[in-house]
Amino acid sequence: MAFLNYKTATTNLNLLVLACICFVHSFAELPKFEHLTKGDGSMNFLVLGDWGRKGFYNQSLVAYQMGKVAEKLNIEFVISTGDNFYDNGLEGVDDPAFEDSFSKIYTAAGLQKQWYSILGNHDYRGDVEAQLSPILSMIDARWFCKRSFLVNTEMADIFFVDTTPFVDKYFTDFEHNYDWQGVLPRRKYITDTLEALESGLRESTAKWKIVVGHHAIRSAGYHGETEELIQLMLPILKANNIDFYMNGHDHCLEHISSLDSPIQYLTSGGGSKAWRGDTKHEDYHHGMKFFYDGQGFMSVELTRTEAQIMFYNVYGDVLHKWKTSKVLHSAT
Ligand SMILES: *[C@@H]1O[C@H](CO)[C@@H](O)[C@H](O)[C@H]1NC(C)=O
Repeated sequence: MAFLNYKTATTNLNLLVLACICFVHSFAELPKFEHLTKGDGSMNFLVLGDWGRKGFYNQSLVAYQMGKVAEKLNIEFVISTGDNFYDNGLEGVDDPAFEDSFSKIYTAAGLQKQWYSILGNHDYRGDVEAQLSPILSMIDARWFCKRSFLVNTEMADIFFVDTTPFVDKYFTDFEHNYDWQGVLPRRKYITDTLEALESGLRESTAKWKIVVGHHAIRSAGYHGETEELIQLMLPILKANNIDFYMNGHDHCLEHISSLDSPIQYLTSGGGSKAWRGDTKHEDYHHGMKFFYDGQGFMSVELTRTEAQIMFYNVYGDVLHKWKTSKVLHSAT
């Protein structure tokens, strides 16, 4: 009798341990959002970064050209690579910068779509919870901002990663205040984020796998490469055969091909202030496909077998165009 009781107790304990593992595991999963597409086997979207400056620094010109391209391509949504509101994010949900830098700027009919946004380092200098708040989506229904999440479409899985907490220097930058609520303890936050990204990518059966972060992995711009992402995130991206890594942070437009993997590194950080005037072009040799030290944005067109990216300047000129195709594998 005593033996039986003991056994029941261990079984219960085992179950409890199992339940905990499941709980921990499901906690490190990216929140997933389904985006229904046209269903004609194609999907187009725009990518913009580093923009919110109340229309100044050519933000309005970029917005105008985005509107034209959005209409022409009949886009599904816009992706914002972060640094949504300068200089210090939003002060709160009632900060007029939200409308002055977003709603009143991107007014074109073609841009009245969902805007999937992540946070940049400047956003962390304000009230982070405000940018993540559903109240903003009530003010402007296009707004959709989270820390790390997955947008699942018929053609692609798009993984959004909150990269600011990865970067050491913000944690020793005492000149600015960062809102680390929800990030600390930092090590656990990073581990959970990487684990969620890895399991999401591993389980993805999408034709195209895209990862979006604020900080660059490869870049010839002013900020350049992000060492923390090269060490911690890049091995996961390579192991899971992602197609594109898209980012902002450097205020330029660039396309760098990886020489040791199929990954294309795409920087779209030209939403407003640009022209930093210093690049490390020569670091990339054959991998550097395009670099523009000025304002603009990027479009992405996907079908089941082809992907095309284009970069535009403030006049709407196409500065760079690149296409790739994938062979469809039959299920035999
Ligand atoms: C706006 O764009 C034009 C054309 O690229 C550029 O010459 C000008 O310097 C830009 N203005 C600012 C404030 O960046």
